[in-house]
This record gives sequence, C-alpha cells and structure tokens, in this order.
Amino acid sequence: MKKNIGFIGLGNMGFPMSKNLLESGFTVYGIDLNKEAEVKFEQLGGIIGVSISNLVRLCDTIFTSLPSTNAVEAIYLGEEGIVENSQPGTVLIDTSTVAPDLNKKIEKAVINKGMYFLAAPVSGGVIGAVNKTLTFMVGGSKQAFEGSLPLFNALGENIFHVSESVDSGTAVKLINNLLIGFYTAGVGEALNLAKKSNLDLEKLFDMLNVSYGQSRIYERNYKSFIANDNYEPGFALKLLRKDLGFALDLAEQNQLDLPISKVLFQMYEEAEKSGFGEKDMAVVFKKISEQKTSIL
Ligand SMILES: NC(=O)c1ccc[n+]([C@@H]2O[C@H](COP(=O)([O-])OP(=O)(O)OC[C@H]3O[C@@H](n4cnc5c(N)ncnc54)[C@H](O)[C@@H]3O)[C@@H](O)[C@H]2O)c1
Repeated sequence: MKKNIGFIGLGNMGFPMSKNLLESGFTVYGIDLNKEAEVKFEQLGGIIGVSISNLVRLCDTIFTSLPSTNAVEAIYLGEEGIVENSQPGTVLIDTSTVAPDLNKKIEKAVINKGMYFLAAPVSGGVIGAVNKTLTFMVGGSKQAFEGSLPLFNALGENIFHVSESVDSGTAVKLINNLLIGFYTAGVGEALNLAKKSNLDLEKLFDMLNVSYGQSRIYERNYKSFIANDNYEPGFALKLLRKDLGFALDLAEQNQLDLPISKVLFQMYEEAEKSGFGEKDMAVVFKKISEQKTSIL
C-alpha cells in the first residue's frame, strides 16, 4: 500500500482530511499558503516545509483541496507546479470543486507526463471530513481509482467511481451543489417567514424534521448555524456561488436554460457582494431576514 502522501490545501476540508490520513498511519506532507494551518498540521505529526518539487519526488499520491479554479490551475499547471515537476507513476487526486473543463485540461497535461489524475470532488461538508463520512464522486482511470481505494476509505464512507471520463464526478458534484443552493435558499426564506410569523424556530424544526419539509440541509443550516447565530464556515457562501456558476456553465454547454437556477445564482452573487461571501452559506437566512423590502 502507498505510504507517502502529499496534501496541498489544509483548509476547512483539507485539514481534517489530511489529519485522517495521518491517523490511518500514512506519512503525510502538507503545503498551504496559510502558515498557521501548516504549523497546526505539523503539531499533529504532519511534515511541512517542502516545496512542490520535493513533494512530487517524495510522494506516491498527492491530494489537493483548493478554493478556486485559479489556485487549482496554478498548483497543477503553473510554473513550479506539479506537472512541471512530474514523476511518472504518481497519482494526483483533486478533491476541489472546479469547472469540468479544468479537469480535462489537467488530465491531458498529467497523462503526457506518465502520471494519473483523478478528479474526485466530495460532499458531506466539514463534519463529513472530520468524521470520515464524506462521499467521493470520482472521474478518471478506474485502475488509479482502485489503487487509491485504501486512501479514499480512510477519508470517507461512500466512494463512487462515476466513469473513466475525468469530469464525470464533477458533473455529479455540480448537480448536488445546485440542489444545495436551492435547499439553502429555501430554508432561508421559509425560516424568515416563520420568524416574522412569531413561530418558535426550535419547535418548528422538531415538527418539520418529521414532516416532508425535512432535509439534511435544513438540519445542517439550522442546527449548526442559524440556531446559534454563528456563521463561521463550514462551507463559505462564495464557494457555493462558484459551484452554481459552474453548474450554469454546464447547462449552457448542454444548451439548456435553467431559469430558476439563474435567479438563485443572482441571489448568491448579491449576498456575496453585500459582504457575506466568507460566511457559511447558511447566512442566506440572515441576509434574507435583514432585507427591508416589502411587497406593499
Ligand atoms: N467546505 C465545505 O463544506 C466543502 C464541501 C465540499 C467541497 N468543498 C470544496 O473543497 C475545496 C476546498 O474548500 P474549503 O472549504 O476547504 O476551502 P478553504 O478556503 O477553507 O481551504 C482552502 C485552502 O487552500 C489554501 N490555498 C489556497 N491557494 C493555495 C495555493 N496556491 N497553495 C497552497 N495552498 C493554497 C488556503 O490557504 C486554504 O487553507 C473547494 O473547492 C470547495 O468547493 C468544500
């Protein structure tokens, strides 16, 4: 089994995932722009202070968990990036959510250098990353996927190989996040209506949680964020807005119009412009509650 693992991006998701790899007995080398995250990772037994070229030389498998298309592109394809420092046989696994086109661009560059690339977006949030209950939706070489199963199993409990087409897992993930966008906005508007109708939100949750209004996102957003009036992410609203944009791009590529999704995207864009981008997506409730608009 592969023993030396690299992990680039020790953020809300990457940190608990790399911690779980350490706890499963792997040697893990970590890189993040945020030096505080690297120090915390070292305190858990991780190895820091390596360059990307060293990482590629030392590791059989390298994971990435990065916040944007630009960051993923720079780490894989940029100067001093993974592809430039390639080692044939290395397996590269990107768990970030990026545009499907970027999955294909990276795969092409990686395969040319004799490496493997899996685009493996995840669902389940920070709690799933901490508790090893993540769902992985993986596109790319089945052989590389099967060889990496011990690693996936150390990080999650629902591991799917979608197809050999590298962007297939991303398509599944974008559809998942489109639904998350709908549920989050729905919970925000519905709970605002409940509050303005003088309902007790805790009692409402108890009743709707055993009714058809129940959803995992209602439970997550209400119990972990809205009920505590604490919106530290979690899943930052700007990341959900990013994913909704990718979902709309995917629809356009398929010559599909998604009119309700377009309105949804605009709502998240506005919330980001109002300064809520760094907060957890559940903050949509707060944004809606603070609106002074009236239909009169
Ligand atoms: N947070 C969630 O609930 C969640 C759930 C599923 C998927 N995702 C996806 O996972 C990815 C990571 O999300 P997150 O919430 O952990 O984001 P985050 O912003 O908390 O973490 C990203 C980390 O990457 C680091 N980073 C950025 N650019 C870098 C670079 N060039 N080199 C090294 N490090 C760099 C940042 O310093 C940060 O620590 C995103 O693509 C997101 O869409 C997040």
